[in-house]
Amino acid sequence: MNATRWSAERVKSLKGQAPFACSTAYDYAMARLVDAAGIPLILVGDSLGMAMLGYSSTIPVTMAEMLHHTAAVSRGAAAALVVGDMPFMSFQGSPDQAVENAGRFLKEAGAGAVKIEGGEIREPLVDRLVRNGIPVLGHIGLTPQSIRALGGYKVQGRKPAEVEQILKDAQALERAGAFAVVIECVPAAIGREVTESISIPTIGIGAGPHCDGQILVLHDLLGFESGVKPRFVKAYADLDSAIRRALDAYRDDVAERRFPGPEHAY
Ligand code: KIV
Repeated sequence: MNATRWSAERVKSLKGQAPFACSTAYDYAMARLVDAAGIPLILVGDSLGMAMLGYSSTIPVTMAEMLHHTAAVSRGAAAALVVGDMPFMSFQGSPDQAVENAGRFLKEAGAGAVKIEGGEIREPLVDRLVRNGIPVLGHIGLTPQSIRALGGYKVQGRKPAEVEQILKDAQALERAGAFAVVIECVPAAIGREVTESISIPTIGIGAGPHCDGQILVLHDLLGFESGVKPRFVKAYADLDSAIRRALDAYRDDVAERRFPGPEHAY
């Protein structure tokens, strides 16, 4: 990965190449680190509702919250494509309002693209956004903004009718001009089938090893304790424990007059 800025078109060109890693980020400090790792796509996911804001789902996340965090990530990401996630009810209502909200991610928050949950049903909107110069990342399979309708966080694509719909969803997004599509929580065989059936990259999260790319929520991959750990998560660090240890040590040093020492005083 070189330091040239990643565009949606450039991410699209990764189809069929070596698998690539993507991550979420929600603030400037973390975006700098993810960017420095050469990760081509940073998603400011509406998972920020749980990871950063303490909500129990993505449903309450607002446009104002998404724009605030996306702008911080854009300031930290020198090379990665920053994708702003359109929150619940920012695009499901009127198409005009959806276009306006999507535009705000580029205009006010410095994003290079937006992500929208839903497949076939979003084809007209994605087509309109792309024609208006707003690159779109699709999101199919388990779409967390629909958990009330789906009855919870469940693996999708277990029944033949669901598989058929997931394939239709992926193909509709490709037709509409999405540059890539996230596939969440489907059996690995479905991840493979979708990947082989479209000419844009698939980015899997719990969708098996055959997707063109993978994405994880940053707080999961860094090992922050969240109470729930889906099977598809791999933690590459245990920051929760590291931070607890650091804070305990700081508290004790202050209480026992070990900090500040002479080297910290003027
Ligand atoms: O909001 C999010 O972080 C996402 C990823 C899990 C793909 O949608």
